Amino acid sequence: MSRKNGMGAHQSAKMKNDEWLTPPAVLEKLGTFDLDPCSPIARPWNTARVHFSKEQDGLAQQWFGRVWCNPPYGKEASLWLEKLSNHNQGTALIFARTETDMFFRWVWRKASAVLFIQGRLYFYDVNGRVAPANSGAPSVLVAYGSRDKEILRMCGIPGKFIEL
Ligand SMILES: C[S@@+](CC[C@H](N)C(=O)[O-])C[C@H]1O[C@@H](n2cnc3c(N)ncnc32)[C@H](O)[C@@H]1O
Repeated sequence: MSRKNGMGAHQSAKMKNDEWLTPPAVLEKLGTFDLDPCSPIARPWNTARVHFSKEQDGLAQQWFGRVWCNPPYGKEASLWLEKLSNHNQGTALIFARTETDMFFRWVWRKASAVLFIQGRLYFYDVNGRVAPANSGAPSVLVAYGSRDKEILRMCGIPGKFIEL
């Protein structure tokens, strides 16, 4: 079977569509979050107790509690990682572009732990359907703060955990 790499565009800075959702199986392993500041306007499932969408502009809001952040793609992602690293309580899901300025600033220097996910994720659309192709790039979960570090350590998602 040839799986198209069409969703490789998912990880492109040129990608216009941000609406690729975290696989529910990943979220289930990470426990309960208080806030998802970057959520679709109409979401197929909850990812946290409280959600902000583009309508509220989650980047401009005050964040609280344990935050889940699978940020919009492209250069803008750095702003979300910066905000989460300052908040220092939560977990992010991003592409494992370990050489980038964003990764050095907000992951290597600020995060408490990372989990490089084994294999490629299949993201979901806003109707709750799984994408026909994988994400086209490796993904990493990034923990901020001691609680999220311990949750990531124990979560059981296949991959390589590294405490920072
Ligand atoms: C990669 S998706 C992740 C969705 C969801 N958080 C999840 O983990 O499944 C990024 C989401 O951010 C939303 N988004 C983009 N700009 C935003 C903004 N300024 N404020 C809040 N949400 C925004 C998009 O609509 C999209 O649903």
